[in-house]
Amino acid sequence: MTAYLNGQFMPLSEARISPLDRGFLYADGVYEVIPVYSRCPFRIDEHLRRMQSSLDGIRLPNPHSDDAWRAIIRRLIAAAEFADQTLYIQITRGADLRRDPTFPKGVAPTVFLFTAPLVRPTPEQRQSGVATITAQDIRWARCDLKTVALLPNVLMRQLAADAGCVETIMLRDGFLTEGSASNVFVVKDGIILAPPKDQRILPGITYDLVLELAARHGAPHAVRPVNEAELRSADELWITSSTKEVLPIATLDGQPVGHGALAGKPGPVTGQMHAWYCAFRDQVTRGAGA
Ligand SMILES: Cc1ncc(COP(=O)(O)O)c(C=O)c1O
Repeated sequence: MTAYLNGQFMPLSEARISPLDRGFLYADGVYEVIPVYSRCPFRIDEHLRRMQSSLDGIRLPNPHSDDAWRAIIRRLIAAAEFADQTLYIQITRGADLRRDPTFPKGVAPTVFLFTAPLVRPTPEQRQSGVATITAQDIRWARCDLKTVALLPNVLMRQLAADAGCVETIMLRDGFLTEGSASNVFVVKDGIILAPPKDQRILPGITYDLVLELAARHGAPHAVRPVNEAELRSADELWITSSTKEVLPIATLDGQPVGHGALAGKPGPVTGQMHAWYCAFRDQVTRGAGA
């Protein structure tokens, strides 16, 4: 029983939705991805809060209270055979009997969740960093909403895969936005820089945690626009996401990141942030119990 669809728990292979579902026809829906460690969902409050703002952003009423969400999530996590999981939640505006863009009346939303084994970066990726490329950000003007309209992100990710890279880093009007499925941090002269959380980027849960950890440990940091020249001359770069955690970037468009002996290698600030992240994650997830 690794899936939940509209009130029922079931094996994922048995989950079915209508072809008239508005998620399928219009990408009219939102989603969340929550990492689960030792059966403990990490930062679940923050994920439920972001899901609420995505729902508000597309004017879709939340079908469940936070307590009801927690109960569904808890049951799904408990039923899985694996302890470390990636939990996926999707809510769409449901399936009408006809195809009409305007919001349907009296149609129940589609609520779908499934859990899968957590896929984390490999030890090699952690140790050596990953290759990335850049591209122009071709997405819409509400990238702060976590909607299932992911075609631009899919195309960006495929560009990276075609180039043998792990992620595509996007630029809009000469400024860094984010990765196709990650936020991007820049280190310059010992200062951690992050682009502001506006409508051009997803407000990453890991992004927030990294800034919290920087503040807690007194690491110099600034939230401000980062231009292309700063991105390309960074001392260190890393990406964050719920499943990638804090992952060093070794190369950008084939050029090594950083300078001197550290060029193309994960730097000390990235290493420190990753260590703070792991310590926090382990403390929180172990403390919460299974
Ligand atoms: C476009 C985009 N930006 C940033 C992130 C990172 O967000 P989080 O840290 O909440 O996983 C994701 C996650 O998948 C994403 O798709």
